[in-house]
Amino acid sequence: MTRHAHIVGWGKYVPRRVLTNDDLAQLVDTSDEWIRTRTGIVERRVAEDEETTATMAVQAAQQALEVARLSPAQLDLIIVATATPDHLFPATACLVQDALGATHAAAFDLAAGCTGFVYGLAIAADLIAAGAYRIALVIGAETLSRIVDWTDRETCVLFGDGAGAVVLQAGEDEGGVLASVLGADGSGGGLLRLPAGGSKIPASERTVAERLHFVEMKGREVFRFAVRAMPAATREVLAKAGLSLADLNLLIPHQANQRIIEAATKSLNLAAETVYSNLARYGNTSAASVPIALCEAVEEGRLQPGHLVVMVGFGAGLTWGATAIRWTRPLPAPLPRWRRLLRRLRYWLAGLRSRLRRLWRRWSAPII
Ligand code: ACO
Repeated sequence: MTRHAHIVGWGKYVPRRVLTNDDLAQLVDTSDEWIRTRTGIVERRVAEDEETTATMAVQAAQQALEVARLSPAQLDLIIVATATPDHLFPATACLVQDALGATHAAAFDLAAGCTGFVYGLAIAADLIAAGAYRIALVIGAETLSRIVDWTDRETCVLFGDGAGAVVLQAGEDEGGVLASVLGADGSGGGLLRLPAGGSKIPASERTVAERLHFVEMKGREVFRFAVRAMPAATREVLAKAGLSLADLNLLIPHQANQRIIEAATKSLNLAAETVYSNLARYGNTSAASVPIALCEAVEEGRLQPGHLVVMVGFGAGLTWGATAIRWTRPLPAPLPRWRRLLRRLRYWLAGLRSRLRRLWRRWSAPII
């Protein structure tokens, strides 16, 4: 029996707070005109104080489970792709597992920069195809606003916060994830990094004073890498799936810079309508950008059953990757209101249960 991994659920969460280019011009020496023309970004979302990568991931995951009409207890695996985990450890995926009440799921984080979601999708699909798991939740979630230097105009204008998630389920019917390609070139690691806070440069007064806990990027070099990597990965994944660019209905690229997206479109000789972009509204949300874009493409009716979609990314590492998917799911009819309320109640109860478990552990811990 051949098992295929199908995307059966999708969801996204973006914070309410909007930061426009004009707002940024109040913080650093920049302008709406510069940001629009050099990047295509108009505004981005910024997390409220109480929002974290895990809380946003949970929101996106709950939506994805709702679309899939599955309960958290049915999940076998949770992967959270992120460069901004809540903590170095435990993994954000474990916090999500707990908050969802996904009691049967294994959970781990994946660090592949902005390519993280594509990496996660490829790995989860392969595990499903191999028969190791039946249902997997793959999330890309970021709170980049916490690691962006708000005094550095070269980086702070680029990034935004948010989360996107998909549920993958094993099925015998043809389609779903057809092929994936993943790549890395660690020699470019220095082009995009967060220097301190790891085991090499632990946090200290000096690292804080020298602003080493913020994103550091050589923008031009990353740009040059991106315009090569995305078209190459797209061609490669289509060839691996035995398909060609002529078969492609939609390309969902990592949303980093409109000029990068346009260069990839041109290099692949695609019509602009075949390439999805929502960069103007959210900026670069790193690992969250592809799943957020996928959700919006589905909501806008850009993906129909039978369509071929390629998701392609590049990012810190350096990493790149692409996944080709034969879309098999129609937009689900909305659940009746009472079912939605019931699910919300279930999620609320799962959250309450996990808070009570934490309190119980604290109270019952031996006092030495
Ligand atoms: N406002 C005004 N001027 C600015 C700003 C700003 N926000 N930022 C830079 N400038 C200035 C520079 O100082 C420079 O001035 P100078 O000529 O006097 O030195 C001038 O604008 C041009 O700078 P460039 O770096 O050449 O600008 P460029 O056209 O390359 O655009 C950008 C910079 C937007 C960063 C671009 O290189 C880029 O998008 N690179 C890719 C970045 C990326 O994709 N990063 C995400 C990777 S994925 C991940 O894993 C997170």
